[in-house]
Amino acid sequence: MTRGISDGSDAVASDAVRDPPAVAHGAFITMEGGEGGGKSTQVGALVARLRARGVPALATREPGGSEAAERIRSALLAGRFEALGIRAEALLFAAARIDHLDRTIRPALARGSWVVCDRFHDSTRAYQGVHGGVDAAFLASLERVSLAGTRPALTLILDVPAAIGLERAALRRSGQADRYERQAIDFHHRLRELFLAIAAREPQRCVVVDATQAPDEVEQAIWDAVTHRLTMPPTAGPGGS
Ligand SMILES: Nc1ncnc2c1ncn2[C@@H]1O[C@H](COP(=O)(O)OP(=O)(O)OP(=O)(O)O)[C@@H](O)[C@H]1O
Ligand SMILES: [Mg+2]
Repeated sequence: MTRGISDGSDAVASDAVRDPPAVAHGAFITMEGGEGGGKSTQVGALVARLRARGVPALATREPGGSEAAERIRSALLAGRFEALGIRAEALLFAAARIDHLDRTIRPALARGSWVVCDRFHDSTRAYQGVHGGVDAAFLASLERVSLAGTRPALTLILDVPAAIGLERAALRRSGQADRYERQAIDFHHRLRELFLAIAAREPQRCVVVDATQAPDEVEQAIWDAVTHRLTMPPTAGPGGS
């Protein structure tokens, strides 16, 4: 049999794809949406709330979330790989995700922690979708091999009109806008549409949250979604990560 990544049946023989652990005890949640919707704020709030319920929980983010992936993140966001072209950039995002899954996400899930990730594969889909130019089959294969079966159980899509998100991102920012924040408003409108299209296609995984509400209302809507969609483990007092 040819060694390859096209069908996954030879994954054991290939060092290109590593199988995730057979049983993951924690729940994997991702927070998605355009700029300034409140993702980072709500990842922190959700993790704090889970821990207060005695559920061990870890906050992480993409790109990044592991030492090597954070280094790739800085270079990508600064645009240092732009000259390589968008296909090679997509490979670098995937490389960062593989390390993040291997070193941070799967070990945490395996020890029973819940993992709440600030952006994940839907951001790749949406941002690559807006940029265009990368063949959908290439992206789908890359997603399959980089996730290697570890997919979020629940994805919260924080939805705000592009103008509000950009305004919030600008207010929060102390330094210069990154390469994505500098894009025209049309880019951010399109991004929002793509996130909503993902949610419409995968309603069993995704919940759209109206993120124009006040932060505590958004937090409550997220908590309602988490408690309706996922089963909380029996609590055993305050938890850590
Ligand atoms: N519901 C809200 N209403 C008003 N302001 C908010 C709300 N949620 C967050 N903010 C504020 O908006 C700014 C952006 O929030 P945050 O950094 O959490 O968004 P983000 O989605 O992570 O942004 P980015 O995509 O740029 O990482 C922050 O200053 C934050 O305090
Ligand atoms: Mg953020």
